[in-house]
Amino acid sequence: MIILPGPASQELGNRLASLLQTRLVPVFHRKFPDGENYIRLEGDLRDETVVLVQTTSPPQDERMMQLFLMADAAREQGARAIIAAIPYFAYSRQDKIFLTGEAFSAKTMVALLRGCGVRKIITVNCHNPHALKSFDIPVQDVSAIPLLAEYFMDQNCEGAVSLSMGKKGSSTAEEAASILKGGYDYVMTRRNPRTGAVTVEKKPLNVKNRKVIVFDDIISSGGTMAQTVSHVANQGAEKIYAACVHPILSPEARTRIIESGAAEVVGTDSVPSFVSAVSVAPVLAHTLHR
Ligand code: R5P
Repeated sequence: MIILPGPASQELGNRLASLLQTRLVPVFHRKFPDGENYIRLEGDLRDETVVLVQTTSPPQDERMMQLFLMADAAREQGARAIIAAIPYFAYSRQDKIFLTGEAFSAKTMVALLRGCGVRKIITVNCHNPHALKSFDIPVQDVSAIPLLAEYFMDQNCEGAVSLSMGKKGSSTAEEAASILKGGYDYVMTRRNPRTGAVTVEKKPLNVKNRKVIVFDDIISSGGTMAQTVSHVANQGAEKIYAACVHPILSPEARTRIIESGAAEVVGTDSVPSFVSAVSVAPVLAHTLHR
């Protein structure tokens, strides 16, 4: 197996190759003067299984295009099988046709990757893993929540309450609680389809004088997390941490969350950022090893 770290996931690709103790082939990337991407795979791939490691967080179109070029170049080089490890899978939130005439963007992305030779996709905490089952190549979703929970164990948070968003997300809190051992709960969130504004349900929570870790898959504007943290703070929690898998942080998101009462914002390197304290490399390595 050969690891090819894409331009958006160089460090993660390096970590993965070192965990798997496998060969790494560098991917040279530059931009043409008009902004188009140039990709060259710098090693022999003939008859090998190659793993392209490339997140597709913003700028997502650019990063998707780099991934298409990497896949097609690997196929040209005679790779035997091409797997795409895409920690943050752009466009996967449009996972069905909600209104007639809409593009089903998750399906389009998978079809394009398949067209470039990809035969399997591995992604991390995808928005709706159930929607991934309908595509014509396998798309496997793995969870980085245990890695986040282990990070908090190392921060002396054993026994903290795990809290997540929405009934569907309660499995996230349950997953974290199986490691943190402090029980779990969830709050419902509602997004106004016209304005995009999110409202967090103000339900009573058993968090008084306790440490609480609020988990979400994504923090973007930070609005959902800030409202939740503020609600938890009003219920008398001792210390609150905000955790997410994909820290697509807008410039003001972290400040917003800290000002609402969180002690720290923690994410993974699925989206490399200044809060990416946890690497998803172990869960990807484990999946690829199997
Ligand atoms: C929504 O479905 C996601 O799980 C996150 O709650 C959402 O993407 C967070 O967005 P924001 O940080 O902009 O509130």
